[in-house]
Amino acid sequence: MNHLLTIKDLTQQQLLDLLSLAKTIKANPQDYAQALAGKSVVMLFEKPSLRTRVSFDIGINKLGGHALYLDQQNGALGKREPVSDFASNISCWADAIVARTFAHSTIEQLAQHGSVPVINALSDMYHPCQGLADFLTLAEHFDDVSKVKLAYVGDGNNVTHSLMYGAALLGAKMTVVCPLGHFPDGQVVCEAQALAKQHGGELILTSDVEAMGEQDAIYTDTWLSMGDNTPMEQIEAKFKPYQVNESLMQQTGANLFMHCLPAYREVEATAAVIDGEGSLILQQAENRMHAQNAVLVTLLG
Ligand code: CP
Ligand code: NVA
Repeated sequence: MNHLLTIKDLTQQQLLDLLSLAKTIKANPQDYAQALAGKSVVMLFEKPSLRTRVSFDIGINKLGGHALYLDQQNGALGKREPVSDFASNISCWADAIVARTFAHSTIEQLAQHGSVPVINALSDMYHPCQGLADFLTLAEHFDDVSKVKLAYVGDGNNVTHSLMYGAALLGAKMTVVCPLGHFPDGQVVCEAQALAKQHGGELILTSDVEAMGEQDAIYTDTWLSMGDNTPMEQIEAKFKPYQVNESLMQQTGANLFMHCLPAYREVEATAAVIDGEGSLILQQAENRMHAQNAVLVTLLG
């Protein structure tokens, strides 16, 4: 493993190893307090962030390393100088690059032109660190994560893609429910379905909320991702039947609710569900740090 650009690049064993290491680091942080001693990580962010920025910064600190945050006050990546120059220059000083970009190709270019590991902190296509934290969270609730029935309801986006790859690699059953025109990327669906088949999992796509069947956990995300300037009024009516509310939780028998955050209460999910008893949102947020630290230790330790 040289980079973490997307969960698709991992083997099932690498994914299981990362989840297991994340659990170990979470349980025994003192054993990893020097894992990144003397190492520096540059964090390049083209988009806003709370969880990703803070969990990487504090996580790197807990591993004994140093994090340097670069926002885009000098313009977007590639404007003042090419992305390739960013990558080659940062590689002179830093031991890894964490990047949150609009285009996934920017992250690929960083990996191609730099000589240090690159970690995707969200692109338009994928959010692998989120996916890892989410399966770590599920693994804390289910002895065998391959038995989990996970449904994603809402906009087929970067988070959906990473969850689909993760569920497929783990051999779990995942149902993706989106309004017509808002399904996940077709190529990602094909790849994830092939991976699911290979690992004994199942990936079902439907736009029929009524046909979701029994679920253990329901996951949703914002209806408008960063960089999507569609006015909410244009999509609200179309998405309304896909809101995660108590009635949907009851209909599917799902006890657990998941969301990567930030959440918009009474939009993609009701406040009663987001802040309800079965909500895993803060466990997911906490696990971002442990999952990412497992990635950092694997790539740099
Ligand atoms: N879930 C997540 O990535 O949150 P941020 O956008 O705040 O980093
Ligand atoms: N799909 C969302 C995730 C935010 C963490 C976005 O890309 O904005």
